[in-house]
Amino acid sequence: MSETIGALKPVKDEYDVTGWCRNPESLSIENVEKLRESIDRISRENRPEVVYEQGTNVVRAVHGCHLFDETSAKLVRLPLLVELAEALVGEPVYVYQFKVNLKQPYEGAAWPWHQDYTFWRHEDGMTDDRAVNIAILLDDTHEGNGPLRVLPGTHRLGLIEAAEDRSRSGDWRKHVSANLEYTVADADAERLEKEYGRELVVGAAGSIFAFHPSIVHSSSSNTSPDRRALLLVTYNAVSNAPGSSPRPEFLVSRDTRPVVPAEDNFL
Ligand code: SIN
Ligand code: MN
Repeated sequence: MSETIGALKPVKDEYDVTGWCRNPESLSIENVEKLRESIDRISRENRPEVVYEQGTNVVRAVHGCHLFDETSAKLVRLPLLVELAEALVGEPVYVYQFKVNLKQPYEGAAWPWHQDYTFWRHEDGMTDDRAVNIAILLDDTHEGNGPLRVLPGTHRLGLIEAAEDRSRSGDWRKHVSANLEYTVADADAERLEKEYGRELVVGAAGSIFAFHPSIVHSSSSNTSPDRRALLLVTYNAVSNAPGSSPRPEFLVSRDTRPVVPAEDNFL
């Protein structure tokens, strides 16, 4: 067992049981500031990767930044993230998806209960959930600014699908809006929450978490004056790459070569 994998064993053990975990090490504040600058600049650009809250000019998310922004491209190669992803997935990984969900003060809308793997299976043809979401808090995140909420242990239940959500619209905008295409019905989530409990993904800017593709999760609207930017890099096992997806490359990376880690953890 390599030194890094050995050091991450307690994190992996927790992740295997609960479907989520916090990484002991955070991203430096210098790195966080560099990322914020990039994301703020991209948010002002007129490009398809920028998604707005429905019917507004409020930026909800930016996608696929690792494909065109140097800082984001470097981020996905940081040893801190690649080693964590490889330890949790247990195989060499590539970047499947990159996004920053920006819950603007008072404006950021909720994400209904869902499992990410439903989208990847039905839309992209991913045959197994051997992938992991690495989540980085770009802003201090607390109960009031719409943190991610996870139901620990639900990743072991497989896909829980509401029958009425099974038809496909073929519209990728329904995978990034508050009106999600595939959801876990509120009544099911309520029942699961009673059985499994609920945890909030909160902490200081720079905190790093991981959560499983099949864990049931959601987040509420931002009712506070504080922005909540959540950066998500999904790493998929190289051996789990789907054939082809009808979705744009900024939602599903086509380059399935294993990530080559950078020399250090500086952006
Ligand atoms: C959120 O940004 O709160 C939701 C993220 C996700 O569902 O992956
Ligand atoms: Mn999700």
